[in-house]
Amino acid sequence: MTPTAATETTGLSVRRVSGALGAVVSGVDLAADLSAETIAEIRRAFVEHHVLFFRDQNLTPTQQIAFGKRFGELDTHPFVVANPEYPELIDVITEPDDVFNFGGGWHTDVTFLSEPDLGSILYAVEVPEAGGDTLFANQHAAYDALSGTMKELLEPLSAFHSAGPQYAEGALSTQTKAIKTTNPEGASEIVSHPVVRTHPESGRKGLYVNGAFTVGIDGLHKDESRALLRFLFSHAVKERFTCRFAWEPGSLAMWDNRSVQHYALHDFAGQRRHMRRITIKGDRPT
Ligand code: OGA
Ligand code: MN
Repeated sequence: MTPTAATETTGLSVRRVSGALGAVVSGVDLAADLSAETIAEIRRAFVEHHVLFFRDQNLTPTQQIAFGKRFGELDTHPFVVANPEYPELIDVITEPDDVFNFGGGWHTDVTFLSEPDLGSILYAVEVPEAGGDTLFANQHAAYDALSGTMKELLEPLSAFHSAGPQYAEGALSTQTKAIKTTNPEGASEIVSHPVVRTHPESGRKGLYVNGAFTVGIDGLHKDESRALLRFLFSHAVKERFTCRFAWEPGSLAMWDNRSVQHYALHDFAGQRRHMRRITIKGDRPT
């Protein structure tokens, strides 16, 4: 596919990376003090493509945080210990001998919050020689592909989300070495979100359940809920809804947690990977 012509005023160009979602944005230095027009154009592309990729950046933590703040207030994570100097920043590190990987499983970030983050911005500091890609899945496309009857069934439903499966005491054996977590008692809280979410900027509907944090569907018997969630978790990430990004040092990805799930592949045993993550606060899903 050909890139869209670089915009005359901002110089940005946007090239899709798959049929389903995702685009590489070039012609911008994210360390610079970007104009309101450039930020508006990035935001438009973000809502249209759901995940944006930028290559060959060179960002200090302060510059990454400053870029993130152009899109809203930044969040702090209730369970993952932040970088000691930057409370909004998490160092996502996988050591060569780690067995587990942070983000290793399809999920949407922090849906256990009543107001989950609208987006996440991940910057690659150190990447393995090969492997360590991230997958993304378009939840509007997953919803659109359902039958009319299934859409009608899902429309009025709410699902329960909890941090428990990942951050409660009993789940902590799956942690990586370098990522420390805290407050396991706090992980027992349960919140409820619509199963079908309407994107507040595009008005598009999308599936809003994920295998990491969605623990049940309100009003269904346990076995009904399990069966329906199992179907939705697998349907939501069929390969025709996905794209895949191969990182280089200096790559940055910015994804829309209102419309995508993602999955950090752990296929680089013996090597180290270090990413820096910040998140933008969001609203209560409707
Ligand atoms: C995250 C995450 C993906 C990755 O930071 O939320 O899931 O590829 N990371 O590291
Ligand atoms: Mn994640």
